[in-house]
Amino acid sequence: MTAKQTETTARKRLFIRTYGCQMNVYDSERMRDLLVPLGYEPADAPEGADLVILNTCHIREKAAEKVYSELGRLKPLKAEKEAAGGQMTVTVAGCVAQAEGAEIQRRAPVVDLVVGPQTYHRLPELIARVHRERGEALETEFEVEEKFDALAAPKRHVEGFSAFVTVQEGCDKFCSFCVVPYTRGAEYSRPAAQITAEVRALAARGVREITLLGQNVNAYSGEAPAGEEAGGRWGLARLIRHLAMIGGIDRIRFTTSHPNDMDEDLIEAFASEEKLMPYLHLPVQAGSDRILKAMNRKHTVAEYVALIERLRVLRPDIALSGDFIVGFPGEQESDFADTMKLVETVGYASAFSFKYSRRPGTPGAAMAGQVDEAVKTERLARLQALLDTQQQAFNASMVGKSLPVLFERKGRNPGQLGGRSPYLQGVHCDGPASLIGQIAMVEIVSASKNALGGRLLSGESCAA
Ligand code: SAH
Ligand code: SF4
Ligand code: F3S
Repeated sequence: MTAKQTETTARKRLFIRTYGCQMNVYDSERMRDLLVPLGYEPADAPEGADLVILNTCHIREKAAEKVYSELGRLKPLKAEKEAAGGQMTVTVAGCVAQAEGAEIQRRAPVVDLVVGPQTYHRLPELIARVHRERGEALETEFEVEEKFDALAAPKRHVEGFSAFVTVQEGCDKFCSFCVVPYTRGAEYSRPAAQITAEVRALAARGVREITLLGQNVNAYSGEAPAGEEAGGRWGLARLIRHLAMIGGIDRIRFTTSHPNDMDEDLIEAFASEEKLMPYLHLPVQAGSDRILKAMNRKHTVAEYVALIERLRVLRPDIALSGDFIVGFPGEQESDFADTMKLVETVGYASAFSFKYSRRPGTPGAAMAGQVDEAVKTERLARLQALLDTQQQAFNASMVGKSLPVLFERKGRNPGQLGGRSPYLQGVHCDGPASLIGQIAMVEIVSASKNALGGRLLSGESCAA
């Protein structure tokens, strides 16, 4: 065998770095599933890799800039690989690829391939083209339907007992601060039958919990399975009820939702579908009607509060999480005070909060009244202090309660297990390794800001 033949038959190393949201995590896994059968072996570090994929995020300036610093770090690694007679193919995928494809290639010649979120199924072909030409290739068309058809789910590799499943992608809402409608394209919902097949395959591999993903997951409107309601469409609640019947799947979550798409059927599902976890991520962004209007969120503070009250009537133990932006253009101290007031009114179990980041091409970037960076920093600190206090209080309120915990792994200390509560809190307690992958009752005895400690209630394993 010649040296050349040896090289082509040897397994190639693939390194993927993922930034941004869970949708990117899902996409990175699908890319890996697609490339492994072609002879790529996942690696933990970029050093010496044959193929490096940066799956990028464009949501805030800092996120987007990270890509360029990472590309800077890859440059010497690529040169090293070439000096040793090999090749490193550097690929930029994800939302920065979609938004700034041409600019990436101009700013960072180290990049061989730029591929947008809707064309991952064509990666093998594109990589082959790079190999052939070692030239440029740019692929950022929107063909989302093809993407899901081609990234066939049953081949999916899973680790652990909890998995993400993308059911909807893209966004038509055009909030005035946000790049997602531009980077992910128009709303698209996968057919219910395709999702069902994916979830069945996950259940067969031992997955107990699924999180349905979408940029606007509760706007889901997918083709109903053949024979159900021919030609009809299913909303998210109908899909959840269907998936809940799959044996082995005991917990269902979904994220991220827009308040305006919380229809009555979905609200009611929290009352009637016990596999739907009592935890809802429902971003509001701001607590001032004036700012919500400027953000193009299309609802008022009172409507958001009424929605949460309705959810709490139907599912009293429901916990809320949210996203907030401080320092949107035009935000006065009084608007910010309204955001603080809304947080006090709702009481969040956890939340993400950000300083407004001016994104090129979005309406917000051109608005008058851009807020000073120092003011944003100061408001964010106040908001985060309040949200931290609420998170701590929420966790502390668990002490003395018994919670079903899905055990996912061994804990840090010998004999310890780590898992998650229905509210996504990390829980650790002593217990046998045989419980990994099972759901068992745990009495909570301690709480910190980020985790709970408990005692396994023996004989009360609620494993299916
Ligand atoms: N579709 C989801 C949000 C996706 S982006 C929704 O509608 O809620 C995740 C979060 O990033 C947003 O909820 C928002 O809080 C934040 N975000 C988006 N654009 C931003 C920007 N330009 N500056 C700061 N935060 C932003
Ligand atoms: Fe962005 Fe708004 Fe769409 Fe969410 S709903 S992805 S914040 S435009
Ligand atoms: Fe970022 Fe794109 Fe997700 S911009 S948050 S990776 S949809």
